[in-house]
Amino acid sequence: MDTTTNEILGRIETKFRDIDQDPNAHLEGLVWAKPITYWDYIHTDALLSLQLQRTTLPDEMVFIMYHQINELLFKMILWELDQVAHAAAPTAAFFAEKLERASRYFDTLSMSFDIMSKGMDREQYLKFRTTLTPASGFQSAQYRMIEFASTDVINIVDARYRNDLPADASMEDVYNLLYWHAAGKDHTTGKTTTLIRLFEERYKADFLRKMEAYRNTNMWAHYKRLPEEARNDAALIAAMRHYDKTVNITWVMAHYNAAAHYLENGAQAVEGTGGSNWRKYMHPKYQRRIFFPALWSKEELANWGQ
Ligand code: HEM
Repeated sequence: MDTTTNEILGRIETKFRDIDQDPNAHLEGLVWAKPITYWDYIHTDALLSLQLQRTTLPDEMVFIMYHQINELLFKMILWELDQVAHAAAPTAAFFAEKLERASRYFDTLSMSFDIMSKGMDREQYLKFRTTLTPASGFQSAQYRMIEFASTDVINIVDARYRNDLPADASMEDVYNLLYWHAAGKDHTTGKTTTLIRLFEERYKADFLRKMEAYRNTNMWAHYKRLPEEARNDAALIAAMRHYDKTVNITWVMAHYNAAAHYLENGAQAVEGTGGSNWRKYMHPKYQRRIFFPALWSKEELANWGQ
């Protein structure tokens, strides 16, 4: 056996002895282990078995798969944000690199939104969407987690209540004022919609836990704790501004335009499947979600999403 093999065997021995395991049993296991394949590693069979249509309309498949791609990219975004969130003392360079990665994913999602507006036949969409009511992308929990991981919750409270939130408000009080509750009211009757009732039954407890977990570890909280020199780092500030804009304006507008294409086209204007007053609810100039408000000028804030 050459010296490299001996050296590797020595390290394997140390690794397993350290956890009270017999190294020989593990080496014997290697004799019987199957060779890895692409399809086992990526779980292609499982992944490709998850596209199940509710209708016979072929373009529903585009809708399902593009939403699944979004959820995978949301997971990749959270993966990057969580590395900053869990870092004891991230450097400006590390912080900027992770935000740039997260932004690239959001840029990709914004650029690819045409898959929704141009990749489906409107007539087919208007038919298969009737089988989806009252579900909506609004019920994407990962999208909300990304927001909790990005900023202090005050920045995602409904803009109408942001300035007069009581100092002793509990996390649940704040949760009840998050901007997206505005879409959860039937705008004609004022009643809570099924869209939000089902969403909360499934996720409210998780959301409250995440809000607490990210209280001091979200991106904005981390940024505020950086030493002054890092806070003034031009590359980090540029990365933060890019992230804020791509999440809260570029993606939101790409989404808004896709919604307008289907719901507002011609005489046949329709409501979203979730039942919101979407024209008003979804526009960034009304939502005014801004993760890092102190990094924008007065003028930029005044013209947010215009
Ligand atoms: C044909 C394509 C799409 C249309 C027409 C559409 C329409 C809508 C509408 C009308 C709403 C407001 C709630 C409601 O009344 O349902 C909404 C919310 C939402 N949708 Fe979509 N959507 C589309 C594609 C997508 C995709 C691909 C995603 C990715 C996961 C997505 C994620 C969301 C999210 C996260 C919200 C909540 C946004 C917020 O609270 O500001 N949507 N969508």
